[in-house]
Amino acid sequence: MVLEDAAHAFGAEYRGAKIGSCCYSDMAILSFHAVKHITTGEGGMVTTNNESYYKKLLMFRTHGITRDPSLLSNKTEGPWYYEMQSLGFNYRLTDFQSALGIQQLRKLDQFIAARRRIVTLYKAAFKNLSGLTMLNENETIAKSAWHIFPIMVRTKRRAKFELLRQAGIGVNVHYLPVYLQPYYQGLGYLPGLCPIAEKYYSQTITLPLYPKMSDAEVQYVIDQVKKVVADG
Ligand SMILES: Cc1ncc(COP(=O)(O)O)c(C=O)c1O
Repeated sequence: MVLEDAAHAFGAEYRGAKIGSCCYSDMAILSFHAVKHITTGEGGMVTTNNESYYKKLLMFRTHGITRDPSLLSNKTEGPWYYEMQSLGFNYRLTDFQSALGIQQLRKLDQFIAARRRIVTLYKAAFKNLSGLTMLNENETIAKSAWHIFPIMVRTKRRAKFELLRQAGIGVNVHYLPVYLQPYYQGLGYLPGLCPIAEKYYSQTITLPLYPKMSDAEVQYVIDQVKKVVADG
C-alpha cells in the first residue's frame, strides 16, 4: 500500500497528475492547517479511488459507526438502530470549515502562482551565490506546490539562522529527521540511520514564502540572506 503524506503538496503535480488524484497511490492525505496552500483553520482530507477504503474512512471519522442497512452486521432492531463496528474517532470537519474550504479551493491556483512567482525571484537572486544551495525542481516530471522554500548553507547554519531572525525575518527549519524525535528514539532508532536526511537537516534554513508577501519583503529577505551568506 502507498499512502501519500501530501500535507505540503496540495496543488502540486507529478507526471501530469494532480497530487490528491491518487494516480500512484492508494490514499493521499492533505492538510488544511492555517499555513498550508488552502486552509480550513484546522483539518484536512483523505482522498482515495478505492471504494472499500472510502467506506472504511467514512466510518473511521465517525466513531466506527454506521447506519447503512447494507453494512449492518446484525438484524436491525428498528429505525433508531446503528452499529459501532470498529474503533473510530471523531474526525469530522465542520460545515463552517467546509464552507471556508470550498471558497479557498477556488483560489488554489492563484495561491500557487503567487508562491511560484516568489520562488522564481529567490532562485534568480541566489543562483550564483556560493555557500548556498537550493532544491532542484525537475519540471519535466514534477511541479512543486512550494509550501516552503528551503535553502542549504554549507557552514554555521545556527549562526546564520540567528542573524536572519535578528534581522526580523521569520526563518524556520524543516525538519528534524523524524526518527531523531524522542518518541522514535524510545523505539530504538539511532542517529546515523539516514545520513543524507541528517546532513540536509544540519544545513537547511526555510525562508518566508506566502502568497501575500510583497516584492519589497522578498527583496529584503534576499538582501539579508546574501549578507549573512557572504559573511561566511
Ligand atoms: C509533512 C506533514 N505531514 C503531516 C502534517 C500534519 O498535518 P495536520 O497538522 O493538518 O494534521 C504536517 C503539518 O505541518 C506536515 O508538515
